[in-house]
Amino acid sequence: MILTIAELKKRLEQAISTAFGSEYAAVDPILVPASNPKFGDYQANVAMALAKPLRQAPRAIAEQIVQHLEVSDLCEPPTVAGSGFINLRLKTEYLETQLSRMLADDRLGVASVSKPQRVIVDFSSPNIAKEMHVGHLRSTIIGDAIARVLEFQGHDVLRLNHVGDWGTQFGMLITYLREAAPAALITADAIDLGDLVAFYKKAKQRFDEDEAFRDTARQEVVRLQSGAEDTLKAWRLLCDQSRREFQIIYDLLDVTVTERGESFYNSLLSEVAVDLDKLGLLVIDQGAKCVFLEGFSNKEGDPLPLIVQKSDGGYNYATTDLAAIRYRIQQDQAERILYLTDIGQSNHFAQVFQVARRAGWLTDTVEVEHVPFGLVLGEDGKKLKTRSGETVRLRELLDEAVNRARTDLETRIQAEDRPETEDFIAHVSHVVGIGAVKYADLSQNRTGNYVFSFDKMLALNGNTAPYMLYAYVRIQGITRKGQIDFEQLGRDRKVQLQDETEFALAKHLLQLDEIIAQVGHELFPNRLCQYLFELSQKFNQFYDRCPVLQAEEPLRTSRLALCNLTANTLKLGLSLLGIPVLERM
Ligand code: ARG
Repeated sequence: MILTIAELKKRLEQAISTAFGSEYAAVDPILVPASNPKFGDYQANVAMALAKPLRQAPRAIAEQIVQHLEVSDLCEPPTVAGSGFINLRLKTEYLETQLSRMLADDRLGVASVSKPQRVIVDFSSPNIAKEMHVGHLRSTIIGDAIARVLEFQGHDVLRLNHVGDWGTQFGMLITYLREAAPAALITADAIDLGDLVAFYKKAKQRFDEDEAFRDTARQEVVRLQSGAEDTLKAWRLLCDQSRREFQIIYDLLDVTVTERGESFYNSLLSEVAVDLDKLGLLVIDQGAKCVFLEGFSNKEGDPLPLIVQKSDGGYNYATTDLAAIRYRIQQDQAERILYLTDIGQSNHFAQVFQVARRAGWLTDTVEVEHVPFGLVLGEDGKKLKTRSGETVRLRELLDEAVNRARTDLETRIQAEDRPETEDFIAHVSHVVGIGAVKYADLSQNRTGNYVFSFDKMLALNGNTAPYMLYAYVRIQGITRKGQIDFEQLGRDRKVQLQDETEFALAKHLLQLDEIIAQVGHELFPNRLCQYLFELSQKFNQFYDRCPVLQAEEPLRTSRLALCNLTANTLKLGLSLLGIPVLERM
């Protein structure tokens, strides 16, 4: 299968260079989807841009391009309109063969990339003994969707959970653990640490109040860093406890991610400082070792330092990210590294990238991108909180989504007097509830803040998961009603386009590969949501207008093929967003 847009672009470029010489070979043909289907499917606006360098009227330029344009296998004869727009309309025959190919292909015509990259997606990354909050939820949902898209494209993806499992807070936690639950240090299951977050709060309180406690806590940090066995044991216990909590969330969300926390880089931190020093990049500023950044300054206009080693000898978040980027490039051989965190960390990453680049660890052959997202807000427009003003626990949030989905479902089942099993109800509620939370997040432009509303995300109408899942169910309903087995119909069915709504649906279906390529490149999953939403709308328009089961052959088979393709596209698209489909709901 070919990418229609890419192919047309290539042909236009060829025509431009044949018409005006090879110095114009790299000119962008400015190919865009036509604003109005009346004019065709695509429009090339390059003639206007060439008017000046060629000193000719745009219309004349457009006509010369068209003369040299070889697209008869794809398009009707191109036309020039207005002051020099080149209009292209895809041939019916071309659309029909493309659809038949898509139908015969398990990947729905989406080719694997020709040059797979080793990509690291650093996402989720909560902190031990701290709340895994809605920001981590966004990172988890968006990161997972991006990883799924890249994996589907054929890239070699390493999903990494950069858990905050190291740092000075462990001194305080371990000291408190020794005091509050010494038995825990003897056998692993001796106590249930239960709510680690509450534990953390108590430890913090002791730390703030008690001088002796503070001293012991500081010593514990040193013991931890030097690898004292009993301290390490306590640390592991705390990590295991958090890990169990995180895993519950990952299981609910059906997300896999490999843990490689900050502690993993511990032994590499001193080397970062030593090597930066050898490179002449380190400066000692008020006892701290730092790199002065280019292009970052403080309020006074002085250059800002990135601290690599604090005056007390400790390392920090940035040092760890420097060690990590180096390891990922040199050991993991990453060619692209994506970091999914809130937009508040943009400067942190820009600074880490700059230092890594100046140190020569990050070269031009590696792409690094901070993939930022906005805040999660409550319906009041403020940071999401519970009614009593506390931070929302993720588990409760997800449970509530599922419970609400269940209530909706049970009401419908009762109204329709459908006998359904508990298994069915539990499964559908889970898929709809979790799917709604994911889709609500993914369908927003990630860089903005997003308002978390159970009512909106669970609505059966609009750009929501329930709507998309229902669109799929509806098509499955058609085939059930007609007792159609798509596999039996065969995959070499011929598609015939007649009605305007069939053309619109067909053209939209054929854009799938372009959309996936775009999401893999630009990392905006909301583009895929929008595509799927429009797909179901176009399907509905087709289905309202065109009889399917009642149509005469060969139209009946052709229309069933369009139904089949729409269903498969929805299923694939949703799966890339981490949402499974339902046969009934
Ligand atoms: N643990 C961090 C946080 O909760 C996110 C880590 C993101 N990844 C990284 N390589 N810095 O904010």
